[in-house]
Amino acid sequence: MSPVAFCGLELAHPVLNGSGTFDAIAARRVFGDALLAAFPFSAFVSKTITLAPRDGNPPPRLWEAAAGMLNSIGLPNKGLQRYLAEDLPQLAQLPVPLVTNVMGANAAELCALVEACDARGEIAALELNVSCPNVATGLDLGADPASLAPVLREVRPLTRKPLIVKLTPNTADVARVAQAAEAEGADAVSLINTLRGMAAHPDGSGRPWLGGGRGGLSGPALRPVALAQVAAVAERVAIPIVGMGGIQTAAHARQFLAAGATLVAVGTESFRDPTVAGRLGLALADLAAQSGTAAP
Ligand SMILES: Cc1cc2nc3c(=O)[nH]c(=O)nc-3n(C[C@H](O)[C@H](O)[C@H](O)COP(=O)(O)O)c2cc1C
Repeated sequence: MSPVAFCGLELAHPVLNGSGTFDAIAARRVFGDALLAAFPFSAFVSKTITLAPRDGNPPPRLWEAAAGMLNSIGLPNKGLQRYLAEDLPQLAQLPVPLVTNVMGANAAELCALVEACDARGEIAALELNVSCPNVATGLDLGADPASLAPVLREVRPLTRKPLIVKLTPNTADVARVAQAAEAEGADAVSLINTLRGMAAHPDGSGRPWLGGGRGGLSGPALRPVALAQVAAVAERVAIPIVGMGGIQTAAHARQFLAAGATLVAVGTESFRDPTVAGRLGLALADLAAQSGTAAP
């Protein structure tokens, strides 16, 4: 099996998990060491960690959309200190490199998160979730290159670990944001995060179904949007891209790789079939072995 080179890491195949869509600690509890023997992803991306603990949004948190899912989970997590103390030792037992995904409301929060993670050898790389609303503009931090660039300028010098910026699709020109990330020293970009959406309550009142009001659309409905955004970003940046959004099959994964992604990630499809990414990984690695090159 030919390894895939990504930001100095050697990965067995090009398939990761989308942050927040596979709970490796819960899966280990259920499947035991069998999970480690056949771990489906070539690197594991943690769910988003914030500085302080978050409860997440009130229920309901999910809505099944046509060919997709809306969620307003609201990034519940135990906060940085408990992640480092409780989760990291367990995630370090996974047989693949660990990417820790962090989100902060401003540069100071992100700097604190990145510095703390930089000090931990168990973490191979960092992913910055820049879909957090900027209090000054009301836009996601990653929706506007002018908001993102100064934040990355402060964060980048704090770690030599690979820094992946996870872009939001809720922006006018995702390729410009990717260019700003590259210019400020990001080692890679990943996209797409969920597309903002709303489900109307079935009682016809017009109020939203989700407890959080708006939610994020994921799954197959997202795939054409994701593919277009990955292709647009690939035309404008030289750093590697992790492509995701509605990937269900090896054929879908190959479309993202052909559009310019180096790696792909599987999110919503893992809820339906938690073993799917392992099969995609094998299929893509076999293809690479047959053609005698690193995975496409
Ligand atoms: C239930 C759920 C939780 C998610 N949590 C996170 C998260 O914590 N951090 C993050 O960066 N993205 C999060 N995402 C976004 C996914 O990682 C991914 O970018 C998106 O769902 C598109 O991929 P998919 O269509 O394969 O799911 C979440 C998505 C879902 C469906």
